[in-house]
Amino acid sequence: MAFRKSNVPGEDIRRAMEMPEKRRQLIAQTPADPLPETYAVNELAKSLHPGFVKAELVSREPAGTDSCRFTFRSLRGDGRFPYFRAGQFITLSTRVRESFITRPYSIASSPEEALEGHLEVIIQRKGIFSSYLIDEAKTGDVLIMGEPSGDFCHDDLRDCDHILAVAGGSGITPFLSMMKAIREGSENFRLTLLYGVRTRKQMLFNPEEFRDDRIRIEVVLSEEEAEGYRHGFISSEILKEYAGGDTSVFLCGPDVMYHFVRGELERIGFPQERIRQERNSVGDRAVGEDEIYRLTVRIRDDVKTVDARSSETVVTALERAGIPAVVRCRNGVCGFCHSRVVRGSYYVAPENDFRRAADRKFNYIHPCSTYPLSDLEIEIPVFDA
Ligand code: FES
Repeated sequence: MAFRKSNVPGEDIRRAMEMPEKRRQLIAQTPADPLPETYAVNELAKSLHPGFVKAELVSREPAGTDSCRFTFRSLRGDGRFPYFRAGQFITLSTRVRESFITRPYSIASSPEEALEGHLEVIIQRKGIFSSYLIDEAKTGDVLIMGEPSGDFCHDDLRDCDHILAVAGGSGITPFLSMMKAIREGSENFRLTLLYGVRTRKQMLFNPEEFRDDRIRIEVVLSEEEAEGYRHGFISSEILKEYAGGDTSVFLCGPDVMYHFVRGELERIGFPQERIRQERNSVGDRAVGEDEIYRLTVRIRDDVKTVDARSSETVVTALERAGIPAVVRCRNGVCGFCHSRVVRGSYYVAPENDFRRAADRKFNYIHPCSTYPLSDLEIEIPVFDA
């Protein structure tokens, strides 16, 4: 009902007093048809953000010397995985003996392949969950997959049209997705990949598969010399060949690589604001002798008490005790695990403390990047898969 302000004194009051009657008339004229059960925009939002998806493992094959390539099929009604931006990650969750574990993995397949119902990750043997998947997971197994997340993607407004992608080991995965997306047309930028591995046997992909005018690949072997490959490390000499002009640098690999490559980029005067880096999960912290604390966990009306070590994050303690923890990035950034501390003290590593000021003030933590310093009582969100 339009209501325009009048310049005549008292007119607005008179019209306002007539409103209830006008409203009654309009309600009376309105058909008594029930509202639609759903709207297209809600359906689209649900399809893009389903929260969790059941995913069946349909194939697994060795990759390199210590990794495995896993392909999943969506068990959603429409047979699709949610659409994503190349460079994003999903989480995989399952019970491993007495633990319930969730880990993030970068997606190796392309966004369009997700719409065809298939999604691929490459998992390197690193810990209990990856070893379980590599040694024990079988085709036909169903895992819980968390929806695509993360901002390690090309952004036209922020990033240059040329990306210098620097990858170490399994850090190649998001760039595989980007290269596939460039080829299929869902991304539109040029990419030069510098891939550092020790030997050719450890390579996790075949560069020949990515022949395209917009993609250039250089493999840098640190422990082997071979024709057609660079030898050594991804040093300032190599970086300056490709990092000139309008270029953004994307880094993905182990922390030691970040430290080295960032130093080399600084050495050639590359602008820091054009460097983006995928973050690794928060690990254990060095504490000397481990203390064991009591961790009391409130999940709605349920209360559980478990042991927590001073060297491990609160999320690790929950998972070890078999309590499904709501997590995505596992590095303190996304806030998905946001939880309230009822009592007790804790430590958050400053480099992984991305809480808002209000969270700090009112004792909220991200358990994936928080370590106990005493017995703790916390309220955590419900794992609703
Ligand atoms: S899982 Fe992202 S902040 Fe904890």
